[in-house]
Amino acid sequence: MSAKIIDGKALSEEIIAKTKKQSEEFEKLHLRKVSLAVVLVGDDEASKVYVSSKIKRTASANIESIACFLPENTSQEVLEAKIKELNDDKTIDGILVQLPLPKHIDSQKIVGMVAVEKDVDAFSSEHMGNILLGVDGLVSCTPAGIIELIKSTGETISGKNAVVIGRSNIVGKPVAMLLLNESATVTICHSRTKDLSLYTKNADILVVSVGKKEFVKGKDIKKGAIVIDVGINRHDGKLYGDVEFASAENEAGYITPVPGGVGPMTIAMLMANTLKAANLRLTKK
Ligand code: GUN
Repeated sequence: MSAKIIDGKALSEEIIAKTKKQSEEFEKLHLRKVSLAVVLVGDDEASKVYVSSKIKRTASANIESIACFLPENTSQEVLEAKIKELNDDKTIDGILVQLPLPKHIDSQKIVGMVAVEKDVDAFSSEHMGNILLGVDGLVSCTPAGIIELIKSTGETISGKNAVVIGRSNIVGKPVAMLLLNESATVTICHSRTKDLSLYTKNADILVVSVGKKEFVKGKDIKKGAIVIDVGINRHDGKLYGDVEFASAENEAGYITPVPGGVGPMTIAMLMANTLKAANLRLTKK
């Protein structure tokens, strides 16, 4: 049996088209476009690629992007002043600070400084707390995209065994909470987990976010499982996921490809979050 491919590219196009329609309505009502400031500090090659894809897609969603590219040697003070300026600018709806920041910067402090209502990455303690509590609001882009990908299969999440490999603040922890909110039985595995395959072989839903090329093999996957591969690993000019696709597709019921799975969904959810942040902020006042 060969798994059905979950087409993240197609689903992301649908979400961006819907966001575009709604952001055109926003523009008619407020006489300006929804706007997103994208802050990139330094020359990290992978970050540059991600940021340029994000900026490119804003146009497709009728969102204006403001690129704030700062040099590697930007000081903590200068970066803090930039965030404050963006926070205070009433015409900016969303602020995204691309991570990782250079080592001399206190990332936690910078992320915490972004105004909660403009934090379209939803990395702040307040948004993370809301995810934990199951309160409606902004949800971080990759975890939100993963839930949409799983739901697009038409399978129910409630009652399923969901296993998340990876415990990062950006993906592992929030996606585990979202799956719990959908009434899955959730296990979080990580680098210290013993006998990992004991868990993965029992997973109806398997989310892999470890950043290691082809880490999970077909033999580790339960027959018919929904497999979500968050990995983007560059090797000899090619992209590889955290799951060995060739062997996994023989076992899984559904699987996301790399590229074309989670990646485009992260960007689509960023557009949707920016519109949501704009509407929430302007209806509050
Ligand atoms: N670096 C890796 N993933 C992300 C993301 O989703 N948002 C931001 N801001 N930085 C990242």
